[in-house]
Amino acid sequence: MATEPELDVLLKTEQTFPPPPDFAAEASFRDPAVYERAAADPEAWWADWAGQLEWIEPWQQVLDWSDPPRAKWFVGGKLNVSVNCLDRHVAAGNGDKVAFHWEAEDAGETGEAGRLGITYDWLLDQTQRFANVMKGLGVGKGDVVGIYMPMVPEAAVAMLACTRIGAVHNVVFGGFSAESLRERMEVSGAKLLVTADATLRRGAPMPMKTSIEEIFGELPDMKSVVVIDRCGTNPSMTEGRDHFWAESVEAADPVCEPEPMDAEDPLYLLYTSGSTAKPKGIVHTTGGYLTQVAATHKMVFDLKENDVYWCAADIGWVTGHSYIVYGPLANGATSIMYEGAPDYPAKDRWWEIAERYGATILYTAPTVIRSFMKWGEELVLKHDLSKLRLLGSVGEPINPRAWLWYHEVIGGGRCPIVDTWWQTETGAIMISPLPGLTTTKPGSATVPLPGIEAKILDSEGEAVEEGGGTLVLSKPWPAMARTLYNEPDRFIKTYWERYGPETYLVGDAAHLDEDSYFWIVGRIDDVINVSGHRLSTMEIESALVADPGVAEAAVIGVPDEDTGQAIVAFVTPQGDAAPGEEFTTALREHVAERIGKLARPKRFFYADDLPKTRSGKIMRRLLRDIADSKDLGDVSTLRDPSVVDDLTAQVEASKKV
Ligand code: PRX
Repeated sequence: MATEPELDVLLKTEQTFPPPPDFAAEASFRDPAVYERAAADPEAWWADWAGQLEWIEPWQQVLDWSDPPRAKWFVGGKLNVSVNCLDRHVAAGNGDKVAFHWEAEDAGETGEAGRLGITYDWLLDQTQRFANVMKGLGVGKGDVVGIYMPMVPEAAVAMLACTRIGAVHNVVFGGFSAESLRERMEVSGAKLLVTADATLRRGAPMPMKTSIEEIFGELPDMKSVVVIDRCGTNPSMTEGRDHFWAESVEAADPVCEPEPMDAEDPLYLLYTSGSTAKPKGIVHTTGGYLTQVAATHKMVFDLKENDVYWCAADIGWVTGHSYIVYGPLANGATSIMYEGAPDYPAKDRWWEIAERYGATILYTAPTVIRSFMKWGEELVLKHDLSKLRLLGSVGEPINPRAWLWYHEVIGGGRCPIVDTWWQTETGAIMISPLPGLTTTKPGSATVPLPGIEAKILDSEGEAVEEGGGTLVLSKPWPAMARTLYNEPDRFIKTYWERYGPETYLVGDAAHLDEDSYFWIVGRIDDVINVSGHRLSTMEIESALVADPGVAEAAVIGVPDEDTGQAIVAFVTPQGDAAPGEEFTTALREHVAERIGKLARPKRFFYADDLPKTRSGKIMRRLLRDIADSKDLGDVSTLRDPSVVDDLTAQVEASKKV
């Protein structure tokens, strides 16, 4: 195993990693011709994958791209997602196969009850029953259902049950605040919310239902709430509106015929942060999305019948949607689902879980890898991880040091790493190695997958052959977002205007190296990526200025060695508010309440004014340079150049602490 200094040497040598020969020999994709075949006829390529799903009615046309950017995939085809994820595996005799090894956070104390082997049979039964519960509550095809849940198997059941009847789910990550949930329910007009009494976090129940109680009064469309009793906390229940999951599901009819859905019918909404304070409701549809998530899950993870696959994301993010629920279940895979914190009750919890279930594939985010690095390799080495054969990374650029540590310490030097680049909007993995084929370079997501075309454009819009620029996707792909819910114009404006209606603007800067490998640098818009979670500077700023003590606020992302980027807030106080620890704590709390704990700025700086141009625009770039201690150049064009000195002094002082 490489020591720290050796890792640094490796970094300097820019070592590359060809697929290990024994891995390559067994890999499903071993022939590089696959790239040419897919590029020569992408529609035939995707049609082959779609053909591996079960269709109720065949499609008449693979792709209709006659009116870009409005894409239609598998035109005229009909299918049901839950049938593809459940019924067909049960019909093939795999009903007793484990879909999820579910591990409760408190499994150490509760034993068997905290370690469930969730089979395809069980999932199908619960899905049909819950689908009938929803029907009984008046939910039907096209209705929006909110899901705000901990990492319990019922979260997947709720999603699948929506697909059974053609309802459109709108999952909100459980770490978002009541206010964020309210906003996302309101703008989507959700009729039903599925939630839990509480979620278990580091040994204690954190209330969910009780903490969101106040939102229902402001949601006229929300007629019913179904509550899973996860922690026995006895939440308040409103007669006629609120129902306990267990009782309802038990009483429900166990058979629910699947709704035949058009390939282009919406499957789900997922709100994500953009350049403004208002989150964007990404709309994914049925046939193309399922095709591409199933295909990429098989290709990128080289999925085999007996793999024990662990995507350690939360179901509330797109990674959970595509690579915990839909991709793995469509492929009939066995996954691990863990409910709790990685450091509870001890910092080797993940490795204990990986050893217990014999994980063969692990898919996680660089932030988590960096935490484990910090906690030390001894915690990993005391567990037998010899079954692991492939590692994946997602959500943010992985720094080469973390890559090498992941490779050496977690992967024992034998597992290829797939660094997968994609977004909520793309629905599925777009740029990634194929582990049996691609020579990897630590820090690069390598090359677009077969059938995908990506380019880097310079400021003139010309494709760059080698060098930096703006990342775009230049061919439609089946899992692409179709629109923004209720905001079709914003969809076009945000993604399809800059370079014309056939070129999707990603919002990332990237560069292409001499081997045409893609290196993602980071966002070019006002989005901050904290621990792989996307947050909008505007959303945080508007939360801050909603505090009566704040006159003005500007928020930026700065590089952070733990979380990739960290949020820094520059604030001008007003009224009685006095800069200091107490005010800072109150502001952090305020942001947690408005958005969620994940959006709390790490550092605050205070000034009587913020650096602005003469026309009054806050200069965020200058704030970034101040935070980075960069040479600021000429600041004389600022309205009040003296604020810069004040802020610079505070930033420098904070670095000495
Ligand atoms: O900036 C890129 C970064 O995360 C953004 C997408 O965020 P989100 O929609 O929340 O989806 C995250 C999970 C797919 C991208 O625009 N990003 C994602 N994966 C990578 C990445 N940056 C570098 N390398 C990656 N592998």
